[in-house]
Amino acid sequence: MTFHPNMPYDTGLHASARQLPDPGEPFAFTPERRARLEEIAAHYPPERRRSALLPALHLVQHQQGHVSARAMEHVAEVIGVTPAEVEDVVSYYSMFYAQPVGTYVLQVCRTLSCALNGAERVTDVLSRTLGIKPGETDASGMFTLMEVECLGACDRAPVVAVNEHWHELVTPEAAARLVDDLRARGPAALSGCHLCVEKGK
Ligand code: FES
Repeated sequence: MTFHPNMPYDTGLHASARQLPDPGEPFAFTPERRARLEEIAAHYPPERRRSALLPALHLVQHQQGHVSARAMEHVAEVIGVTPAEVEDVVSYYSMFYAQPVGTYVLQVCRTLSCALNGAERVTDVLSRTLGIKPGETDASGMFTLMEVECLGACDRAPVVAVNEHWHELVTPEAAARLVDDLRARGPAALSGCHLCVEKGK
C-alpha cells in the first residue's frame, strides 16, 4: 500500500465502518470493575460523569479483550450517555477494538513520517510473516495486524505499537524478529519503547 491522501481510513477493526459485528453476549462489569469505575467517576462533578467514559472503556477492554456493541450499550447506561456517543469514541481511538482481537495487536502507523520511512515495508513483512492482511487475526488467535494513523512518535518513525508498547525506528527485519520473539518469549518480548531501551529503563 502506498500513502495517499485518499487512502481509506478504516482498519476493519473499529466501529467506523458503521456496520457493527455480532453485538456479542450481554455485558456487565464485574463488581470490582464497577466499583473502580464509580471510584473514577467520583472525581468528576455528577453532571460531568461522562468524563469517565475513556476509563470505562479501558475497564471493558481489560475485562472482555475488546469493546462489543453490548458493552457499549452497558457503558452508555452506567455513564449516562447514548450508545452512539460511546460508539463514536470507540471508533475514534485506535486503542479500542470493536471486535475480538489476538493476544498481540500489532498496529503499524501509516501516516506521513512513518510512510516516508518505510512503514509499508514493515507492514508487508509482518503480513507475510503472520500470513494475514491488515485487519485480520491469525488462525492461532495470537496476532492481529492493523494499520493505524499517527501514533505520536513521528520523529522515531516508523512506529509499531504492540498492545500498549511502542516500538520505534522499526525496520522490516526488526519487525520480523519481534514476531519471532513474541512467539518465543511472550510478553517478555515487549521490552518497551525504543527511548526507554536507550535510557536503560
Ligand atoms: S507519523 Fe507515524 S507516529 Fe506520527
